[in-house]
Amino acid sequence: MTTTEDARIAMLNWPGVVEAYRKYLPVPAEAEVVTLREGGTPLYFAPRLSKLKEADVYIKFEGANPTGSFKDRGMTVAITMAKHSGAKAVVCASTGNTSAASAAYAARAGLRSIVLIPSGYIALGKLAQALIYGAKVVQIKGNFDRALEIVRELGETGLVTVVNSINPYRIEGQKTGAFEVVDALGFAPSHHFIPVGNAGNITAYWKGYNEYLSDNKCSSVPKMMGFQAEGAAPIVKGEIVRFPDTVATAIRVGNPASWKGALAAASESEGTIGAVTDKEILAAYTYLAREESIFCEPASAAAVAGLMKTTVPRRSTVVCVLTGHGLKDPDTAITQIEVPGAVEATLEAITKEVGI
Ligand code: F0G
Repeated sequence: MTTTEDARIAMLNWPGVVEAYRKYLPVPAEAEVVTLREGGTPLYFAPRLSKLKEADVYIKFEGANPTGSFKDRGMTVAITMAKHSGAKAVVCASTGNTSAASAAYAARAGLRSIVLIPSGYIALGKLAQALIYGAKVVQIKGNFDRALEIVRELGETGLVTVVNSINPYRIEGQKTGAFEVVDALGFAPSHHFIPVGNAGNITAYWKGYNEYLSDNKCSSVPKMMGFQAEGAAPIVKGEIVRFPDTVATAIRVGNPASWKGALAAASESEGTIGAVTDKEILAAYTYLAREESIFCEPASAAAVAGLMKTTVPRRSTVVCVLTGHGLKDPDTAITQIEVPGAVEATLEAITKEVGI
């Protein structure tokens, strides 16, 4: 076989997470799989972070998913099952990424998608996505936690299927991220750093690592190192935060649905749930772009901000999940740098401007 053929087959063969990990997922064989061929995302070695931490640091870049975040892994399973059960409409509350994924997968399935988002606190790219995929977008005068309360009530009417991570199929799909990490490394890392908002993803990764352990795909499981933003850190504080606030709008959550799951992951793995300040988040965000050429959204950088202030054993293997793409939130990016003004369109003016 020629190299070109190998490359073509590799490219065409990735089927999405349901087909790739069917054995571990509760999707019946006869269900029509709703997929955008999510998952199969890169696990990058991060040379400068590795040097800094004297460990092997890898980045699982979930921004490479079809809608630009890890939510696609859970949404393929949730929407497949919703469609299979005859649902006509799906609903979610969201800080942005869940709404984008729900809108995209519902469009593929031919289902109606309704999304409730906190007015004024959703990154521009995510709002654009939900709208362009054709969701019915409702901006509420309240935060994510309030939106989720209303969504729970809507779900109880039986008229719509909830596709937040309180829907267990979401967690099932998202656990495939852990499978991919182990499949790529050939073993489980010693530490797994992850941002925590509604706490579904840390719950999902912990489930995934444990299922792979039970299936002898790895011989250990990592310490789960979850990080909330300091202004939205209910799990760290041990109480609901009524008015959560952070630059990382994706994790602006004051009463996480999977609170218990996050605590269980941290305690069973001898890991931790910690908090990072907005300043630390933004420092990690810029560092990742400048030093590792990875542009993630601010919430994702909370994982690396957590690593920055944690001592990990020398030569250990560390994975940080960067949950969403930087292009989701261009407004935050341009507040971190001075946007240059226009110069005269002459060679002279330009050489002077760039200093060559
Ligand atoms: N990172 C990003 C980019 C997110 O969008 C989220 C959650 C998280 C991390 C935290 O994951 O909630 O499973 O602990 N976003 C949700 C949403 C709340 O509506 O898109 P989690």
